Amino acid sequence: MAIHLNNFRSPSATFVQRVKWLLIVLGMMPLLRLIAGFPLGWLGANPIEFITRSTGTWTIVGIAVTLSITPLRKLLNWPWLIRLRRAAGLLAFFYASLHFTTYIWFDRFFDVDDIIKDIIKRPFITVGFAAFVLLIPLAATSKNSIIKKLGAKRWQRIHYLIYLIAILAVIHYWWLVKKDLTQPIIYAVVFAVLLGVRLIWKLRSVSSEKPPLVAKPPSD
Ligand code: HEM
Repeated sequence: MAIHLNNFRSPSATFVQRVKWLLIVLGMMPLLRLIAGFPLGWLGANPIEFITRSTGTWTIVGIAVTLSITPLRKLLNWPWLIRLRRAAGLLAFFYASLHFTTYIWFDRFFDVDDIIKDIIKRPFITVGFAAFVLLIPLAATSKNSIIKKLGAKRWQRIHYLIYLIAILAVIHYWWLVKKDLTQPIIYAVVFAVLLGVRLIWKLRSVSSEKPPLVAKPPSD
């Protein structure tokens, strides 16, 4: 039985809701693995390092998934994909919070002076911290009532920060890696493509004198 992409152009609200729940359930799997892995000994000889790396990885993956939604929506002509973007972004923020908490708790034992010194001293921590701080206004303005209060234009301006966050995330990863740069290079290429297509669309829309493409706030 052939499944046509066209069949997914305007699915029912129930289908979209189910896909959103699937994304959330899948997004919780890495956390479940960490919770179960602790007593079961899946986290290796250094569980704290494992948790820091895993939560960092899922933060950057979450950012990549969030940034993929608009290009995919346009390429596939599936407008409803936009309704998954908020969940993807909040998952990225959730893992960033776990990542930061692991660092301040198990790496720095809540020693505020030590944390501040480390943020200033180690450039990869400075950049990671900046990316995390910039994620906060995005998460804080994700509720419908706040989007309404802000208005679409202002909301959109705040959410352009995601491009800077993606760049900072790659720099953070690049600078912390000691030898093998394969992983940060892969993320750098992925983000270059995801930001590059937007730039091309923007330039095209300007040259054809159509109103510029605007990122739509979530409508559900
Ligand atoms: C948006 C924000 C952030 C992203 C996307 C991110 C991403 C990552 C990634 C991908 C890794 C490496 C995972 C691996 O080795 O497989 C990592 C490691 C790490 N990150 Fe972050 N991070 C962020 C914020 C932060 C913040 C705020 C801190 C602390 C202030 C931090 C501290 C660390 C540390 C200590 C490591 C482990 C370094 C090592 O193993 O030597 N990160 N992060």
